[in-house]
Amino acid sequence: MSTVSFEEKKENYGSHFDPEMYIKFYFCQNKSEEGPLPSWSIADRDLNSEFLRAIRFKIRGMKLCIESALTGMSSTVRVLDLSTGPFCGNMMYASGFDNVSEIVCSDFLEANRKYLTKLISQETENIDIGFDWDKLTQWAYGKSGLVESFRKKCQQVSFVDLSNDDGKGFAEVEESGKPFDLITSEWVFVEATRDLKNYEDAIKKCNSLLRKGGSFILLDPLEETFWVPDGSKPDVRLPSVPVSPQWLTDCLKRNGFAVDLLMLQYYDSNDSTYYDSKGNILVWATKL
Ligand SMILES: C[S@@+](CC[C@H](N)C(=O)[O-])C[C@H]1O[C@@H](n2cnc3c(N)ncnc32)[C@H](O)[C@@H]1O
Repeated sequence: MSTVSFEEKKENYGSHFDPEMYIKFYFCQNKSEEGPLPSWSIADRDLNSEFLRAIRFKIRGMKLCIESALTGMSSTVRVLDLSTGPFCGNMMYASGFDNVSEIVCSDFLEANRKYLTKLISQETENIDIGFDWDKLTQWAYGKSGLVESFRKKCQQVSFVDLSNDDGKGFAEVEESGKPFDLITSEWVFVEATRDLKNYEDAIKKCNSLLRKGGSFILLDPLEETFWVPDGSKPDVRLPSVPVSPQWLTDCLKRNGFAVDLLMLQYYDSNDSTYYDSKGNILVWATKL
């Protein structure tokens, strides 16, 4: 089975990635689990699923980093999430912090920006994919009211293109000219950039968007070469940029960051038809 080229992927992204199918395939599987999500535990092994362990790593890891970054920041924190896609759970969690005053979500794909805009302006029940954001956030973060606080604090959903070499792909997110205190991005850089050089350019750009001392939280699949955005079309493989922990930490250091925390999750084996990553890498870094 072949993987499409980066150019083909970018040109036809809308036909490869459907926001509702993505949410259904990657996030609805948690619905059967009894809440709230337990903390890190050996019991995760009982799930017998690398995939569910990865979703737990994403939620718990991002929660830990977001909380660590926000605790101690001043009272008017501006947050940018790069390529939110339709999954804004961790931004909902960030919105629950009193010191967060503004959240900017973003995405390359118009359908994802529309999904988020609709979520901000309408009741969750109106999202007709059998997925309830109130339930997800209560299960994941053990808190209620996060959908409401997200709606109040996220009033901007911008276009962004991480692969654009000349930095113009970030024009909308930097329109206000104000620096961000926190930038987050989950499962995006390996997907949105064409190669390691382009990946590094995007990291350099994030550094320039942050204030000195600001935080950068980045989650990506580990050493992945392809993934499938929609389980109903397993033969449509999209290319990823394979990233190792050593390369990523060196890259952050070369581009003006200090690495505060690095977490790795390794799969025991990978026999998934939907991705070939070896696990996940999560980094919390500070702009020097
Ligand atoms: C795997 S999804 C991750 C979505 C979400 N952050 C999450 O954690 O579930 C990858 C995201 O990257 C976005 N993307 C793809 N190409 C991009 C590009 N060139 N620039 C910016 N974002 C892009 C997609 O629209 C999609 O939302």
